[in-house]
This record gives sequence, structure tokens and C-alpha cells, in this order.
Amino acid sequence: MKGAGTGPQASLREILQGRFLLGAALNDAQIAGQDPVALEIVRRHFSTISPENALKWDAVHPEPDRFEWAAADRYVALGVKNHLAVIGHVLVWHEQTPSWVFAGAAGATLDPELLLARMRTHIRAVVGRYRGLVQAWDVVNEAFEDDGTWRKTPWYRALGEEYVARAFEFAHEADPDAQLYYNDYNLWKTPKREAAIRLVTSLRQRGIRIDGVGEQAHWLLDGPGIEEIEPMIVDFAKTGTRIMMTELDVDPLPRPDELIGADVSKRVDLKPELDPCADGLPDDLQQRLARRYRDVFSMFARHRAVSRVTFWGVTDADTWLNQWPVRGRTNHPLLWDRQGQPKPAFDAVVEALRRAASNGA
Ligand code: XIL
Repeated sequence: MKGAGTGPQASLREILQGRFLLGAALNDAQIAGQDPVALEIVRRHFSTISPENALKWDAVHPEPDRFEWAAADRYVALGVKNHLAVIGHVLVWHEQTPSWVFAGAAGATLDPELLLARMRTHIRAVVGRYRGLVQAWDVVNEAFEDDGTWRKTPWYRALGEEYVARAFEFAHEADPDAQLYYNDYNLWKTPKREAAIRLVTSLRQRGIRIDGVGEQAHWLLDGPGIEEIEPMIVDFAKTGTRIMMTELDVDPLPRPDELIGADVSKRVDLKPELDPCADGLPDDLQQRLARRYRDVFSMFARHRAVSRVTFWGVTDADTWLNQWPVRGRTNHPLLWDRQGQPKPAFDAVVEALRRAASNGA
């Protein structure tokens, strides 16, 4: 195997020696144990897992009085059994949330108190069930637009800015020991970052628990630049909060400008010209991807405030970027190829982390 040198292949977790947690999001097939190749990679290289979909509202709470725990229970049990830090994703979001959540009772317009009660019921049930097992929760996802204004989601329209504070309070009540995070994409964009920093500061001033902020980190080959990402880390570190890369991938395929980030509601249909690497990633792109991963991991390792880096998927076979922002592409954004073999990008991460360790950074 590449990356092996002599002897067994390097383990990213062992090279990291606890400097930060390293993980991957697992899909439902992996959680069900149907993907032994991916699970072997997880056990060998990672120290934490996230659920790609298994803990989202539509998965666990499809109807007001019906919870579906089977996949979520399997996910949590998998993490506990393998001594992985188990992350919960996500309690309050405007996507993958059933329409009943935002519907008024019997044809009436939505009563804000009713929506708040639904939020509390949901958070209590989900966080309470995994109390002491899920170490940290993404409490609220994507509350801001890129320009730093509040995103006008059904949560915001009914409850105003307070919905975020209430979500954090409910989560803290349900598990006082769980870490609680705010999660969003494009936080390297200054206005959006400033909005998130104002949120963290104001929650803390009010005595409401928030432990960290997640930058989703759905990035491209040539952007955002290190000179854009690093100030984000520095600025969050100054607030005393943890900063995590919660959904890292590097998309090597062409992407229209308006889709930079990760707005899951924007998707286009497949056209052959949008799928240029269906037969594999050409060597020049492979090398550029490796350099990009080397650069971002060298930078992560320079900052103690970076407490976790999680890839959004394990191998290229299961990346969500095969379906977003273009349906049905063959994408190549991760460290392992479709067969589960390490790519040059894997070797580049090994090299970056080894160098950081030997510099004592
Ligand atoms: C994605 C999943 O990977 C897909 O399987 C699903 O169809 C849509 O959501 N930001 C997030 C994640 O916070 O929950 C999203 O996950 C990717 C963007």
C-alpha cells in the first residue's frame, strides 16, 4: 500500500498523538456494518465519528409522536464499542427537518410557542437518550447568511434570534456534560465569521453554554486560501472557544461560484461536461489535491485551538459530493479512493503531521 514505507501503513491517529481529534462522518450503510473497508479505515486512523444523516431530525423524529432510534442507536454503539469520540449532528437546522415541525396546528399559522415546544421535545428526547454517550452536539446549523445577516429560516421567522439561545439551553438541560457547538460553512468569510463570534460572545455573556464553533470546511482545490482560513482560526481562538473543521472535504471538480460553501438546497442535474473525472482523477489533479491537503493540515497543526478535524465521508465511493452540487458525479475529494486505497493526499497528510510533530509545533 502507498504510504506504507516499510512495515504497516501509517496510522493518522498515532501520528497525531492526541494533538487534535481526527474523524469521519459515517453513512447509514457504514453504521449498519455493511462497509468493512471503510470501518477498517475508521478503526485504524480515526479517533472520532459523526453521523452523516442518522441523527438528523427527519431520521430520528419523522412524526410528532414517533421516534426512529434504530440507526441512531447503532451509530452511538459503534462509537462506544470502538472507543471513538461520538459526535451528535444536528439538533436544529432548516434542512432535513420534516414539514410538520414548521406547520401550524390544523391549518392555523404556526404559533411560536408551539414551535418552541416541538424544539424542546425533540432536543430533550434525542440528547437525553444519549446522555453521557454522545460527547458533543452540533446544536444549531447554518443560522447565518454569508453576509452575516440572520438566515431567514422557519426557525428565525417564528422565533427570531432567540431560537439559537433556546436550543443551546435545551441541549444543556438534557445533558449538562455534553459539549455544545455552533456549526456553519464559509466561516472564513469575514462577515459570517463576525456574526458567529457575536453569537458566541453574547451566549457566553448570558451564561449560556457554548463550547465551540465548527467550520464545515467543504472547500475547493484553490479556495479558500490559507490566508483566509488562518484568520478564522485565530479569531475564534481569541474568543476562548474551540474551533473545529467538522465536515472537511476538498472538491477537485469544477463548481459554479454561487455554489461555493454548502447550501444543500441548491443542486443541479448531471451534464457530461460537469463530470470530467468519471474515469479517475488525473495525476495533475491528484498532486494538487495532495498539496492542498498538506497545506491545510500543516496549518491546522500550528493552532492549538483546532480541537478536531472530521472528514465528511471515508472514501471517495461514499462522499456526498458524488450527489451535490451536481447529482450523480464521480468525485474524488477524500484521502482514500473508491477501493479504500490511500491516495497521494493521504501521504501528504502523513507528511504534514509528521513534520508538525517533529517541529514540536
Ligand atoms: C449532507 C449529507 O452528507 C447528505 O447525505 C444529505 O443528503 C444532505 O446532507 N452540511 C451539513 C451536513 O451540515 O449535514 C450535510 O450533509 C452537508 C452540508
